[in-house]
Amino acid sequence: MSGITLVSANPSLESSLVELYGKSSAVRRVWSDQWRDPVETTMDVCAADPELLVIGSDMTSEAVRTLIPAVDRRFPGTTIVALVQTRDTDYAMDLLRLGARDVLDESTAAEEFRAEIDRVLEVAKIRRERTSHSDTALRRRVITVLSPKGGTGKTTLATNLGVGLARRMPNQVLLLDLDTQFGDCAPSLGLQPEHSLIQAMASPSHERSALKVFVTQHRSGLAVLAPPEDLAAADDIDADRLKPTIAALTEEYPFVVIDTAGGIDSACLAAMELSTDLLLVSTTDVPAIRALRRQLDALDQVGFVSQRRSFVLNRSNAKVGLSVADVEAAVGLETSFQIPSTRIIPVSTNEGVPVIEKEGGNVARKLEDIVDYYAPRQDDSSRTFLRALRKER
Ligand SMILES: Nc1ncnc2c1ncn2[C@@H]1O[C@H](COP(=O)(O)OP(=O)(O)OP(=O)(O)O)[C@@H](O)[C@H]1O
Ligand SMILES: [Mg+2]
Repeated sequence: MSGITLVSANPSLESSLVELYGKSSAVRRVWSDQWRDPVETTMDVCAADPELLVIGSDMTSEAVRTLIPAVDRRFPGTTIVALVQTRDTDYAMDLLRLGARDVLDESTAAEEFRAEIDRVLEVAKIRRERTSHSDTALRRRVITVLSPKGGTGKTTLATNLGVGLARRMPNQVLLLDLDTQFGDCAPSLGLQPEHSLIQAMASPSHERSALKVFVTQHRSGLAVLAPPEDLAAADDIDADRLKPTIAALTEEYPFVVIDTAGGIDSACLAAMELSTDLLLVSTTDVPAIRALRRQLDALDQVGFVSQRRSFVLNRSNAKVGLSVADVEAAVGLETSFQIPSTRIIPVSTNEGVPVIEKEGGNVARKLEDIVDYYAPRQDDSSRTFLRALRKER
């Protein structure tokens, strides 16, 4: 990975970059009026696997908005900088959210321009080194939310985690609802899906981009794949057909959160097989805790031991005579997170607006902690820039 790719029809911008970085600095300019879709554009633009991608201000804002997340997803090592003619804070913030590392005025003076770019590249280098042991292994996560009992908070956690992750990485997170009969992720998010998992499973050859047709988009940037409405159709979901579908979805989305029905059914087994993480949930009542202990023993016995296990104690403040330490001892797992019992959660379920979208409260912060765990915040240039922009406002 090296060099700079400039996406622009403007040759003088290319000359400026060559002047700035010297003739030996592999600057490559690409431009086409024939690009048909974002994938094609991304492949052309990143053909040389550039370290730095500079997007000229002559690309339409719509095209820039599609290109940035597409490059970010497929070429996470490439640092993206967008140029603008006039400073529009909302547009700049949008591009940063989508994955640009910096947004610069095209008219910025040469030295300042170079200093800014060097700073961004330095941060990118540190970030790469920090995650060098495997960028994809660190980034790609399939998180299955599990509980032996019904009603413990799986859907609450799965939807909030999905939305929280998507707000940081729009269009890179899928919430797959594998509660095949009574899944309610979509209504909990105020969505009415037009398609379901059944169509995704039937999609010929599991063409990756084709699968995206069957997801429903949430305003946060989260994609949701729902089970069928028709209970009889849920019977058609078997593990052998489900596994290749999940595998294809995990190729398309770096983060997949899977909600499950209580217990361990065949869909859940298929999901666990492909998971990197298990998020186990229990409430504080003895039957739920006993069941979780037995579930963990069963997972050990059948060899599901490689996934990272985390334990959420939901309704952790319920006064039922068991302390957190009692629960941990009984389950044999330390609690990673505790969510108190609160009226806000059922209210938000009924409203179809996840708690994490209602900024600021104690519970939203606790849910953000779970998001942090899977997608640690990085004190990178985009955040510094975002902070600076906020101060400016
Ligand atoms: N911490 C909490 N405080 C108060 N209510 C909660 C809490 N967590 C979940 N609930 C409520 O409990 C109910 C069940 O939660 P949820 O649907 O998330 O559980 P589930 O494990 O997915 O259930 P099922 O197994 O039926 O799918 C919902 O009405 C939800 O709003
Ligand atoms: Mg549920």
